[in-house]
Amino acid sequence: MGQVKEMKNVLVTGGAGFIGSNFVKYMLNKHLEYKIINVDALTYAGNLENLKEVADNVNYIFYKADIRDKEKIDEIFSIHGIDTVVNFAAESHVDRSIVEPEIFLTTNILGTQVLLDTAKKYWKVNPEDKYCKEYKLGVKYLQVSTDEVYGALGKTGMFVETMPLLPNSPYSASKASADMIVRAYHETFGMPVNITRCSNNYGLYQFPEKLIPLMINNCLKEKDLPVYGDGMQVRDWLHVSDHCSAIDTVLHKGAIGEVYNIGGNNEKANIEIVKLILKTLGKSEYLIKYVKDRPGHDRRYAIDNTKITTQLGWTAVYTFERGMKETIEWYLSNQDWIENIISGEYVKYYEKMYN
Ligand code: NAD
Ligand code: TYD
Repeated sequence: MGQVKEMKNVLVTGGAGFIGSNFVKYMLNKHLEYKIINVDALTYAGNLENLKEVADNVNYIFYKADIRDKEKIDEIFSIHGIDTVVNFAAESHVDRSIVEPEIFLTTNILGTQVLLDTAKKYWKVNPEDKYCKEYKLGVKYLQVSTDEVYGALGKTGMFVETMPLLPNSPYSASKASADMIVRAYHETFGMPVNITRCSNNYGLYQFPEKLIPLMINNCLKEKDLPVYGDGMQVRDWLHVSDHCSAIDTVLHKGAIGEVYNIGGNNEKANIEIVKLILKTLGKSEYLIKYVKDRPGHDRRYAIDNTKITTQLGWTAVYTFERGMKETIEWYLSNQDWIENIISGEYVKYYEKMYN
């Protein structure tokens, strides 16, 4: 008889967003014995259409709930015997954080604290004892963070996990704050945690406010492509499915209390990406429109992935060429998906931001 694997009840928050929905599908495919409990408030960025192919999977359960709602989160822990948390739920767009920072602080920081407190209550062997650092076997809280917490790089150098956090936008400051809270729960209460800090993701189901889907969508509609400043800001791009496999690796192999950077050594200037999209779709560079730069715009991000690759054996499998080709083709053949999510609210946002 084969060995029986332990059952995992994995709470995924923010699972109807871009990375979270890719992760839910990744986990249901990979770990057939796990239950995935997806909690999402379905803000403008959350879309259940992303998960329609797994909606009837017996190992998948969805709750429309806010991670700041203590009672609801407590109820979900108690019903499902949650033993693992992967927290994706967040306000995630830098431009929005510049015009409306408050929601970034409440969701990204206080929401994280609610999840940690609930996990502590259910997982600590003696929750009433403030000195107790003993937890039930096999539990883990994983905070999905970002390389943006390190701030901006000059022309050279890379982010390593030991660098100080120097966030520049309200978004990255809220993510850095959440990282600090997660760290504090590990240090003070012994909570078994990991933090992952990934570079920019691209791929299927990304909301068209972010660079790559926004440019693809505008290109398809022959609208201007708004490039901030000189377009020479550099991001280190990773395909979303490589991010999912990295998180899965950290969940299973990550040493308790450790931070892991995630990236695939793929630095590109924004203008290179815009030109690649134009070329792939056979459109003219006349569509490029240089617009006023984002305030506090970080010049360059680059991830040193030595720790996760050497200590945990993770590597990215997608080349940027293959990933971009598949992504552009997907947006081309799923224009209904974009039309369905571009609500009246998004149109208003777009006009406010770019006109
Ligand atoms: P996204 O904006 O597409 O999705 C966020 C999801 O969180 C949405 O489904 C939204 O409805 C949900 N949500 C927001 N507030 C909530 C709340 N209060 N309660 C419950 N659910 C709520 O974001 P994404 O790009 O998929 O990013 C997911 C996570 O990964 C974020 O934490 C982000 O900081 C991090 N991250 C993103 C990138 C990237 O390039 N997109 C890179 C590194 C890290
Ligand atoms: P974005 O996708 O918003 O991710 P982040 O700011 O978290 O890195 O932006 C990626 C890069 O593209 C960033 O340098 C800003 C730039 N950008 C533009 O030039 N024009 C745009 O319309 C957008 C949305 C982004």
